[in-house]
Amino acid sequence: MMGSMPLPPGPSEPAAIQMSEWIVRPTALLRRCHARYGEPFTLRIGWSDAPMVLVSDPADIKRIFAAGPDVLQGGASSSVLEPFAGPRSILLLDGAEHLRQRRLMLPPFHGEALARWRDTVARLARAELDGWQPGTPVRAHTRMQTLTLEVILRVVFGTGDPELRAAIRRTLDMTTSMPRLVAMSLVQRPVGPWAAFMRAVKRLDAVLYERIDARVDDGSVLAVLTAARHEDGSPPSREELRDQLVTLLAAGHETTAGALGWALERLARHPDVLARVRAGDDEYLEAVIKEVLRARPVLSIVGRKTRAPFAVGGWDIPAGIHVVPCIYLTHRRADLWGDPTAFRPERFLDGAPEPYAFIPFGGGRRRCLGAAFATLEMREVLRAVAERFMLRPDRAEGERMRRRSITLTPARGGYVVPEALASSPRDADVLPSQPPDRELPDLQSRAAG
Ligand code: HEM
Repeated sequence: MMGSMPLPPGPSEPAAIQMSEWIVRPTALLRRCHARYGEPFTLRIGWSDAPMVLVSDPADIKRIFAAGPDVLQGGASSSVLEPFAGPRSILLLDGAEHLRQRRLMLPPFHGEALARWRDTVARLARAELDGWQPGTPVRAHTRMQTLTLEVILRVVFGTGDPELRAAIRRTLDMTTSMPRLVAMSLVQRPVGPWAAFMRAVKRLDAVLYERIDARVDDGSVLAVLTAARHEDGSPPSREELRDQLVTLLAAGHETTAGALGWALERLARHPDVLARVRAGDDEYLEAVIKEVLRARPVLSIVGRKTRAPFAVGGWDIPAGIHVVPCIYLTHRRADLWGDPTAFRPERFLDGAPEPYAFIPFGGGRRRCLGAAFATLEMREVLRAVAERFMLRPDRAEGERMRRRSITLTPARGGYVVPEALASSPRDADVLPSQPPDRELPDLQSRAAG
């Protein structure tokens, strides 16, 4: 373990080959490496600036999440996002600066502050479902992208303003193609796709600063952050606000869209599960959401980078290496989860999983800031679907996990066919008083990234 071979074993293919598999067949790569090399193993992917040592053992994961920023750095792993999210983004900062931003941003995403978004989410979900026709296949992931963007716009900015939506859509779309992201991060010169991306960011910034400067007191996250103060009493600057807003959009929209896309893909293949959600069992609905996040985690790894030597699985990892808990592999360990490939929400009713066996939102001082909000959003959307439709798959076999930028989403987009409920008293009650919300754009035909 010393000298000529300082890192755990892993595939010896060139970085470009490992990267192409990481993009095209990510879960097969992870499963193969885990089977062949055991735990931990090392991937060398051209795109990341250093080798990645992957772990799925809860004991190691616990130590990784507990390590301080002087040992394991969180922010460095997202540096490809810097030109978009900005240098003050909570995703990119580390140590005291990270904590300062995190303290500022936590309050609107917790407890009571969150609960008041429930009706907004439920209303937007129902408006989306107004556009679904019984018997007509729906590309669930695409529809959920539209819906989650709308939700985050209302929550973060308090508005579904079309100009803001268009500027955000344009910029986010440019970050959802992995090959393009890689090309952009490698080149970063004022030519080609990079230049186009920077132009889109500039246009988005103009709209964002307009909203920031308007200082509308509408209870939105922006309004709360504008009024908030750092611990030393200083207000956040315009630039800080801009970076955190973009971060919330980037971190909160594709992730939740992917998770909901998977939820619908799974529920269409498990009508008994959907029926139980429809019956109004809230505890079971929570278990369904957890099982979706376990079996189909949209983010496959949690990024950390060593600043000092760090021991994992009997290896002494030197400084400058990514040491990453692998969400996908952790959630599939047969020693932690009985029948791990089965979709079985009941497993979460039988008692809490072992600590650090269930890590869809990462952990420690960088745990997902929007975890509670994402869960609320999933709950309201799935409840609205269950109330309105039965779902069936367009094909019997489940969809494979495909990489779309950094998220793993249904390979074909999560096609489901909504069917009218045999008798739907709720529809009869609810629909006449809920006219279709024309503000929701129809992006059904938008090309997949
Ligand atoms: C199902 C949906 C989501 C999943 C699976 C997810 C997952 C994650 C993961 C794995 C991390 C990294 C945690 C770590 O490094 O330990 C993260 C960070 C983060 N997420 Fe989420 N997320 C989701 C939704 C959201 C939403 C809706 C928001 C905002 C409204 C959000 C905001 C953030 C932010 C700001 C961070 C950075 C936290 C920090 O570095 O301190 N996420 N998320």
